[in-house]
Formats: sequence, structure tokens, C-alpha cells
Amino acid sequence: MNIGIQLAYLVASVLFILGIKYLGKTKDARKGNVLSAVGMFIAIITTLFTVEVFSLIEIGVAILVGAAIGLYYSQKVAMTKIPEMVALFNGFGGLASFGVALSDFFFKNANAAASLDVINLTSILLSVLIGGVTFTGSMVAYLKLDGKVSGQPITFSGQHLLNLILLIAFLAAAVLVFIDPSQVVYLYILIALALLLGILTVIPIGGADMPVVISLLNSYSGMAACATGFILNNNVLIVAGSLVGASGIILTQIMCKAMNRSLINVLLGGFGQTVATGGADGPAVVVKEIGVEETAMLFDSASSVIVVPGYGMAVAQAQHVVRELMEQCEKRNIEFRFAIHPVAGRMPGHMNVLLAEANISYDKLIEMDDINEDFSNTDLVFVVGANDVVNPAARTNPQSPIFGMPILNADKARTVIVSKRSMGKGYAGVENELFGFPNCLMLFGDAKQTIAKVVGEMKDMT
Ligand code: TAP
Repeated sequence: MNIGIQLAYLVASVLFILGIKYLGKTKDARKGNVLSAVGMFIAIITTLFTVEVFSLIEIGVAILVGAAIGLYYSQKVAMTKIPEMVALFNGFGGLASFGVALSDFFFKNANAAASLDVINLTSILLSVLIGGVTFTGSMVAYLKLDGKVSGQPITFSGQHLLNLILLIAFLAAAVLVFIDPSQVVYLYILIALALLLGILTVIPIGGADMPVVISLLNSYSGMAACATGFILNNNVLIVAGSLVGASGIILTQIMCKAMNRSLINVLLGGFGQTVATGGADGPAVVVKEIGVEETAMLFDSASSVIVVPGYGMAVAQAQHVVRELMEQCEKRNIEFRFAIHPVAGRMPGHMNVLLAEANISYDKLIEMDDINEDFSNTDLVFVVGANDVVNPAARTNPQSPIFGMPILNADKARTVIVSKRSMGKGYAGVENELFGFPNCLMLFGDAKQTIAKVVGEMKDMT
């Protein structure tokens, strides 16, 4: 391949690596995104110089159609629906790799001049397997997350044995393709097996584990792209695919650790079922309510405040009123910080993104391990739409499905106020005994509306 093209791919690959590096720190994340986007732009333009099969006009039309669909959905999608969107992205990424692998196989099979060597065939079969599993697995994940099918795990006896048999059947059919690639019937069998495996491996996984699966499928889509890079002999695709594959696996590990689950445990599924029975929860908690006026007074008299944001803040879009609350407190010289749990919300970095959107500076967002010791010296903890991430049962109740998950020590503060609409449970579906603690007060109502009223009261006090 032309040296200029290889050099351009090298530059794009370096930009991807730098982009990922910068994404590791919140304050540099925007820069990381820009660098990666420039890398992708260079990679796409360079690839257009190597076009063989389609004309530039056909490619241009496809890009325009794709960009229009992407633009429409990027405007339309709600922040809380991002996991569903990511599931679709992963699925289509897998489908693209799957399609490229198949077209390469059929093209080379039909073209006597081109040969299917071992590397080529191995890459095609890997692309078909990983791409196929990613596609159907992601579609099932999307349907579950979007509530189009039940989010409950679907399990049956012999399920894991069946998956193992299907995988062995895939390997056997792959060997037959190696022996005689002209027998395309074996490839059709491989296609069916890969698609079926994707469905069967995701259906047993329950609601609370779905974000972990999305991250894993994201990693698979990267691996499929990497295999496709070998098929097309395209270095930048190999590098980009490896980066997505590796970072997806690392993220999956981080999420599993934050939820105190092992990856195997997540993949074997059934977690949501245990939760649904809720047998280990014990009696319902008795709570004390507080109104907006008293809440404003407690803020007014505090000298230190920690806000614990959670999924409900995203649903209510309360981040802007929370910033106004912070401004009111800072006017009174009250120390005001945010405690960020690694799995608060529904996607990694969910709370950071929301708070950044409300122009809250990064240095106020403190990670769990760095702030957990400080709760006991804090006057007031304000829990905004968070539930599981402050549930003391994770520390104290070995029967609880979330036992062992590291949590924010909100209960150790002098006073805790919880803003939520009702006694509704969190994602894990378990009662939260914190709400019944003597130092805990419930501020019921939509977070945005109630916090706006609290801010109004505080303004009236000055
Ligand atoms: P959750 O435990 O899901 O609790 C959210 C709470 O928000 C609910 O109890 C709900 O109570 C409240 N809420 C909903 N709408 C509201 C509104 N408009 N105003 C005020 N409150 C509202 O949230 P969390 O503490 O952030 O925990 C996240 C959960 O997701 C964990 O179980 C975690 O393991 C799981 N998870 C997260 C991730 C990632 S990557 N973030 C990955 C895997 C799993 P009401 O209905 O009473 O209002």
C-alpha cells in the first residue's frame, strides 16, 4: 500500500491513542474527543483514496444518509436513553464487521484469482462470530433496556450447556469451512449459530446488569472491527478496533468491581430474578418527612454540605437547580461538594456529564474513595435521586443482593436529606434502610421542582 496512506493511518492511530488517554481525565475529556474525531476524519479521508468497490458518489450518498439519521437521533435522544443508543451503536458496529466479513468471503470465493488464505479465513470466521454475537446480543440488550421486552432475566435449565454446544458446533463448522471454503453451506450454518449465540447469551442477563453487558458488547464490537481490519488489511481499523476492544473490557471490569460482581457471575445471569423476589429485604422502613422551608433552613445553618447525585437527578434534569443551590450555599460560605459513585446513574460518568452540563466545576466532584471518610464530619448530606449507591444494606446485610457493593457513606453524616418522589426502589429493586435512620429526612417530590422551591426559600432569606 502507498506509503502516504500508511503514514496518514499512523497519524490517525496516534490521535486515537492520545484521544483515549485524554478521555481518562474529566478536564481533558473534551480535548480527547476532539483529537479522536480528527483522527477519525483523517482515517476516513485516507480510506476514500483507497476506494475499490464503490464509487465516491455512492459513498458520499451513504455518508449523507447516515449523517442525517445520526444528527436526527442525537438531537432527539434523552440523556437517560443513552445506554439504549449505545446498545444500538454496538449492534450496528458488529453488523458492519459481520457484513464486511461475509462480502469478503463471497467475493474471494467467486473470484478465482483471489485466494482465501489461513489468516484471511481466520479473520473472516472471527468477524462472523464476534460481529454476529454483538449484533443480536445488542439488539436484545436494546429491547430489554427500552422496555420493549421484559428486562427480567430469561433462564431455562440446560441454558449454559446449550450455549456451550452451540459454540462447539460453531468451531466444528469453522473447521469444515477451512477444509473446503467452496462449500458455502457451512458458512450459512456459522451465520445462524453466531446470531443465535448472541440472543442466547444476553437473554439470561437481568436489568441491573445490562449496563455491564452493554460495555462488554462494546468491547466485542471493537474486537470484531479489529478482525475486519485483518480481512481488509487496514492498519487503522486494527488499531481502532483493538483500542475499543481493550477499553471496553477495562470498563467492564471497573463496572463489575463497583457493583461487587464478577464478570462470570454477570454473564451467567439470573441477577434480576433474585432481586425480583426481594425476599431478603426485611420489613418496610418508617420514615420522617421534611418540607422545602425546613430544608432551606437546614442548608442555611450548615457549614459543610455533600450532594450525592443519582439516577433520579438525571430523570428530573435537576442538575441546573442543584447548581443554583450550590451558589446559594457558597454565598453563605458553606463548603459544598459532590460525592460521585462510580455506578451512580445508568452509564459510566453519567453524573459527571450532567454536572458538567450545569457548569459545575470538576474540582467539586469528588470520587467515592476520596470522600467517603469525610461524611462523618459533614453537617448535611443531600441525596438527589440516588438510592442504591447510598444503601447501607450493601455494608451490613449479607442477605441483600447488593451486599458487598462499595457505597457512599451518606448515613454517617449528621443529617441526611433525601430528595425523591416516593418510597420507590432503585435499579437493584431493594428497600433502602437509610430512609428510616434517625438522622435521615425525606423531601418527597420531583427533584427539580422541590429543589427549585428550596432555592427560592433560600433566596427569600437573604
Ligand atoms: P437508583 O438506585 O436507580 O435510584 C434512583 C432513584 O431516583 C429511585 O429510587 C427513584 O425514586 C428516584 N427518582 C426517579 N425519578 C426521580 C425524580 N424525577 N426526582 C427525584 N427522584 C427520582 O440510582 P443510583 O443510586 O444512581 O444507583 C444506580 C444503580 O444503577 C445501581 O444499582 C447501579 O448498580 C446500577 N447500575 C449503574 C451502572 C452505571 S455504569 N451507572 C451500571 C450498572 C448498574 P422514586 O421513584 O421514589 O422517585
